[in-house]
Amino acid sequence: MAMTHNLRLLSDAIVVGSGTLVNDNPGLNARVPVVAPLDNQPTPIAIDPEYKMPVTAKLISNYHNGIGKQPILLAYRDSPKNDKRLALEESGVKVVDILTPSTPLNRQHFNTLSQIFGFTRFMVEGGATVIKSILAASANETSLSDTLADTLVVTVSPVLIGDGVSVVKNQPNNSKTPNLHHKASKVFGKDVVFVANFIDN
Ligand SMILES: NC(=O)c1ccc[n+]([C@@H]2O[C@H](COP(=O)([O-])OP(=O)(O)OC[C@H]3O[C@@H](n4cnc5c(N)ncnc54)[C@H](OP(=O)(O)O)[C@@H]3O)[C@@H](O)[C@H]2O)c1
Repeated sequence: MAMTHNLRLLSDAIVVGSGTLVNDNPGLNARVPVVAPLDNQPTPIAIDPEYKMPVTAKLISNYHNGIGKQPILLAYRDSPKNDKRLALEESGVKVVDILTPSTPLNRQHFNTLSQIFGFTRFMVEGGATVIKSILAASANETSLSDTLADTLVVTVSPVLIGDGVSVVKNQPNNSKTPNLHHKASKVFGKDVVFVANFIDN
């Protein structure tokens, strides 16, 4: 937990998909061991083209309570300006129309966010669908200057979950996944954390 919150502090923005947003209602701010100053907080970004974010979302209340930055919602280009969108905008959500239907998350999306907001370091927290597109986009990279994602952090906890939630959605048989280069492993309490780079450096 403390490690995740430290990683959030090292990031300009934290990205999640609508599945995670709706299932987990994450705050996406750095608050362990204590709530970090607002200036140091990362900006929460939800990939949520169907406007599934409730106006009661923790991201929004954090913003109003001064313990989180203004949340950004990524929607489709030419998205309808419907009532739900207007309600989210009125509650403080900044909607950015940069997605294209049937197009996985890719470098262009991150470049656009960097250009608009000046972000340089993104942390993608999930869920399985979003992580799958990051892995797929990273599979063909061969140099650090090209790399979309540079580091994968996996925590293994001693909990048996059977057919539980996937960490990464199934890859089609013909799709590539990036080579992972072990960087570090460390035990934190009962958890083991593995850190791997996508490019050997
Ligand atoms: N253990 C962990 O550390 C961890 C961390 C994070 C999440 N999780 C778990 O992961 C689960 C959620 O995973 P998930 O795969 O169902 O959902 P997800 O990856 O959080 O979100 C997927 C959704 O994001 C939207 N999306 C993603 N890429 C898009 C694109 N390029 N263009 C348009 N929309 C895009 C789509 O939303 P629409 O369907 O609305 O169009 C898509 O259905 C949750 O249950 C959560 O608990 C676990």
